[in-house]
Parts: sequence; C-alpha cells; structure tokens
Amino acid sequence: MTSSNSMKRCTAMKTSYADIGYIHIEDFFNQEELDLLIELSKSIVKENDSLDFTINGIDQLHITHQHKFNAYSSRGYKSNKLRDYIESHVKTKIDPIIREIYQDNYVIEDDATLLAWYPESLIKGFTGFHQDGPSDLIPHGYPHCWIPLIDERRANFACIPRTHTYGNFPHSHMGHFIKVDPSIVETFLENKTSLLVKPRDLFIFNTRLMHCLTINETKSIAWSIEFIIK
Ligand SMILES: [Fe+2]
Repeated sequence: MTSSNSMKRCTAMKTSYADIGYIHIEDFFNQEELDLLIELSKSIVKENDSLDFTINGIDQLHITHQHKFNAYSSRGYKSNKLRDYIESHVKTKIDPIIREIYQDNYVIEDDATLLAWYPESLIKGFTGFHQDGPSDLIPHGYPHCWIPLIDERRANFACIPRTHTYGNFPHSHMGHFIKVDPSIVETFLENKTSLLVKPRDLFIFNTRLMHCLTINETKSIAWSIEFIIK
C-alpha cells in the first residue's frame, strides 16, 4: 500500500470512529498471530482453572470436559499474562490506529480479559444494550478493542451507530446485568446494526456506544479478547 493510500485509510478510520462510534478492520491479524493468541488463551485457561490435562480445542471444552466447563464456569478471565502479551506483541501493530482515532499518549488498561461466550443452551448470555462503565466524569468514552479468536456465530456484535455522541445514558439493573433503560433503547432501535467480526479482524468501538454481544446459538464456545485504551 502506498503511503498516500495508507493515510487515506487512517483518515477514513478516524472519521468512522468519530462519526459512527466504531471501526471494523477485516483480516487485521495474520493466521500466525491469531494462532499465537489462541495458544496464549489456552495457557490462561489452563492456569486459571488449575487444569492437569492438555487443552486441545477450547471451543469444545464444555463437551470434552463437562465437569470443569459448564453453566457455573467463568466467562471472563482477567489476566496479567494477557495484558503483558498485548503490550509486547499487539500494541506495536495497533499503535498507528490508536494514535489516529484517539491520541498519542495512551495506556492499555490493566484489566485485559479473555472472554468465553458459552452456547445459549448451556448458559443464558447477556444481550441487552449497554455502555461500558458509564460515568458522568467520562462522557466521551474510550476506545475498546475487541478481537474474536474462535467464533462460529453468523453475527456476533450488535450496536446502535452514533449513540456514543450522546454521553452517558441512564442504566438499570436487570438480573445480574446493567443495561440501558429499555425506553431509551427503543428510541434508537431502528438504527440497530448486527455485525460479524471474524477471527483475525480488529474491532474498536467507543465505550459510550450502545452495544451488546449476540446470543451464541451455536454448539461451540466463542472466545475473544477485549481491552480498553485510556
Ligand atoms: Fe460491553
């Protein structure tokens, strides 16, 4: 790609992030980079759950090791190991994009998380629209990076473009979860967009964007990584 082309691409990303609240870069990672992230994920699960067996496929753990991976299992693995890996292996690659859409001085938040999204038949997922960590002190939001690793869903992310420009919406508790008040969601719902973010893609959305993960109707666990830039 010529430098003028790559500059145009960066400007388009900046505009997309500012206007609609997200950027979706397909095939951002190569297969080798994805494989390394999956291997890292296996080691995080193994350590976190103190497993004494070798993990082959992490998407079928609820079938191969039901006693450990079931309706009561962890869905989020917060991991320093993951955060360190992002700092040493992923940051250089995403740096020009973060600088373009956000700012030159930034940090990757400590709570990088490996997410396991179980089949809906096993664990009911959280699919209500919400903003991430809404606080009156930060109406502008932060870039939130989401990287699917293994995912068989036909759509895995839903959002309502441009809602990040409204600051913080009132949220309320629904069961264990906090969602934007349904009466507010309703007024924006006609603009709802469903997306398929594939493994190897990079997706960055503003934490103020109304969004949710899509129900996992497949038979496999969907795995992804998320971290926030501040
Ligand atoms: Fe979220």
